[in-house]
Amino acid sequence: MKMVIKGKSTLKGKIEVSSSKNAILPILAASILTDDVVEIDRVPKINDVTVIGTLLGELGKQTSILDRKIVMGGKVLSHHPPYDLARQIRASVLVMGPLLARLGTVRVALPGGCAIGSRPIDLHLKGFHALGAEINLRSGDLIANTNGLRGAHVYLDYPSVGATENIMMAAAMAEGISYIENAALEPEIADLANFINCMGGKVSGAGTNVIRIEGVKEFKGVNYTPIPDRIEAGTLMVAVAATKGEAIINNVIPEHVKAITAKLTESGTEVVENKHNVEVRRLSKINPVYIKTLPYPGFPTDMQPQFMAYLSCANGSSIISESVFENRFMHVQDLSRMGADIKTEGKIAIIKGMRKLTGAQVKASDLRAGAALIIAGLSAQGDTVLLDSHHVDRGYEDITGKLNAMSAQIQSIP
Ligand code: EPZ
Repeated sequence: MKMVIKGKSTLKGKIEVSSSKNAILPILAASILTDDVVEIDRVPKINDVTVIGTLLGELGKQTSILDRKIVMGGKVLSHHPPYDLARQIRASVLVMGPLLARLGTVRVALPGGCAIGSRPIDLHLKGFHALGAEINLRSGDLIANTNGLRGAHVYLDYPSVGATENIMMAAAMAEGISYIENAALEPEIADLANFINCMGGKVSGAGTNVIRIEGVKEFKGVNYTPIPDRIEAGTLMVAVAATKGEAIINNVIPEHVKAITAKLTESGTEVVENKHNVEVRRLSKINPVYIKTLPYPGFPTDMQPQFMAYLSCANGSSIISESVFENRFMHVQDLSRMGADIKTEGKIAIIKGMRKLTGAQVKASDLRAGAALIIAGLSAQGDTVLLDSHHVDRGYEDITGKLNAMSAQIQSIP
């Protein structure tokens, strides 16, 4: 897959953000907790959802992916997701907690690292162990067994999103009460807790750094709509700003994009927050800013590449410190091919703003790096060809259609 992106675009008009990829993936995993019918609405058509839906089907859940709706039902039968599916998406590790809760056993391939870092799951396993699971590694697979999970206190050395979600799902059916301390605060955590509570769970404190989970014996079916995708919203906001455009971005919870709004405003872009949307317009030059990525509510690491593309044309030098992942500057080499002047030293990048970028042939290394290169291509002089653009389609529903609806000229070529 590749995309041909016409330069010197100015994004304007209105666009609607899809439901959150990073909320839906754990919610789909949590459907394992019940045999009743679970219906998820407003599901974006992205590959990651298809992979997880297919994986749940392989585990025995009757799963049908209809147009923007997923319907699942039936008891999960297998404790071992097929390797060829699980290896395609890191979020497959999120079936561990619910499978452990439902079947008392789970076997998954140890998830590999990816373009942005090693991405261990030691904190997930620390939680499962505390809840009473025995964990072994056998020929590349992690095997966890328990003869009954019991409530426990789990302190997370780092507020890991996935570990918080996985431990919450395991504790949801444990005997007694569990506490997750130093839990992640991301909105997707609160959405997962809300979903579990709609099924009859007893989770409180999600969105704070101490989450209390009281185990329940059984969950019932539910019809649920996940929160909007705050990273897609942020990506569209930055794309409008980078192209000196003016647009209304609908289906946004302004609270969830506060850090992005703050940094866009600091850089000279105007952002107006309304109840369900934000208005973005850039009328002046881009001021350089300092960014440090942090767990929520800090500046999100998933917005770091896109913001670097935007700051590549700032009126001065910016600094970005990537504190969450150890290798999330893969997009620097491709931005440099487009004329950006970026120096990296470990987790620090210094971006010396240029008057303009020039189109080039570049390659997406991962989802957000690909989004950054699209943003750079939209504002560059001349056309940009983005290779491996399938990475972008993994997590952004119809990004080409959405940007073209705002006057971009992007051609997707299979
Ligand atoms: C989630 O990944 C998101 N993915 C990521 O989004 C996001 O970048 C990340 O959270 C941080 O916000 C989904 O929600 C599906 P972490 P996750 O566990 O859960 C270390 C995207 O582009 N760590 O919070 O894997 C880890 O190495 C993706 O949509 C441990 O050391 O993130 C990393 O340095 C990319 N041990 C840091 O914590 C563990 O057991 C953050 O990881 C777990 C994590």
